[in-house]
Amino acid sequence: MTRAVLVLYVRSARARWWRKHLQTLLPGIECKLWDDTFRSEDVEYAVVWSPPNGWLAGFENLKCIVSIGAGIDHVLADSLLPQHVPVIRTTGPDLTQRMREYITLQVLAQHRQVNAVRLAQNTKQWQPVITPPAHDLTIGVMGLGKLGTAAASSLQQLGYQVIGWAGSQHHIDNVKCYTSDQKQHFLTQTDILVCLLPLTDDTRNILCGSLFSMLKPGAGLINAARGEHLVEEDLLQALDSGQIAHATLDVFRQEPLPQSHPFWVHEKITVTPHIASLIDPESGGKEIARNLLAFINGEPIEDMTDTTRGY
Ligand code: GLV
Repeated sequence: MTRAVLVLYVRSARARWWRKHLQTLLPGIECKLWDDTFRSEDVEYAVVWSPPNGWLAGFENLKCIVSIGAGIDHVLADSLLPQHVPVIRTTGPDLTQRMREYITLQVLAQHRQVNAVRLAQNTKQWQPVITPPAHDLTIGVMGLGKLGTAAASSLQQLGYQVIGWAGSQHHIDNVKCYTSDQKQHFLTQTDILVCLLPLTDDTRNILCGSLFSMLKPGAGLINAARGEHLVEEDLLQALDSGQIAHATLDVFRQEPLPQSHPFWVHEKITVTPHIASLIDPESGGKEIARNLLAFINGEPIEDMTDTTRGY
């Protein structure tokens, strides 16, 4: 009897590592890369990052799709996506920990004005910068899924005042959480805004001029969600006017960020190359294998998504 095939679409230097590791974890399934030889009718599982439009529709016996990441927008962007096939995200303790680290690092960097200190060093200026203590700053976290909740808790434990905003009700200890219609109230209190929202029709372009104008003057922005959340022109204007003092961006409409893009050289923008919470085959593979085995055994899966809602 032929073994079911799992096909991996991940165009990175780690592709072979992914295949080898998943094969060890899932011995009953044949693991293949997208450019290996296999019969498309044998494919039952697809583990993907940003597959080409229509590629998944070529597998008539596909039972489930796994996103190599927390976001599923790169799967749902496929206009020919087989609608009946469930999509499982990948999270797990390592992904969450990396996001905690990244958000904490970038909030601290903005708060302690690391950029200004670095610029002064470049011109050999001894320029002490005095900053308020953490408890005088309010960090607003938009998006309270696993990653947003973890980041909010870490910031709160560090001493910041933390508030959260999401489409639905959430409870996080010592973090006041707001929902959809309370966005303005949430924003007007915020000194540094952290975006960890899923990308959906409701959140695309949410980081725009009108949102920036509701923040405290001179607020900071950190976007570690998706490039499509941000209206780039509006950010440049808000930086020029001083409404936003600094922006830290890990995600972009086009990745890699084109060489000619103004963000690269902007003094008030920190660019990082989509590294906030990279997934590695070692621990990510274990999460994927665990979820797939649960799926095969008909067990509940915490990382199952609701494709109709987009996350
Ligand atoms: C990364 O961007 C992810 O969705 O996990």
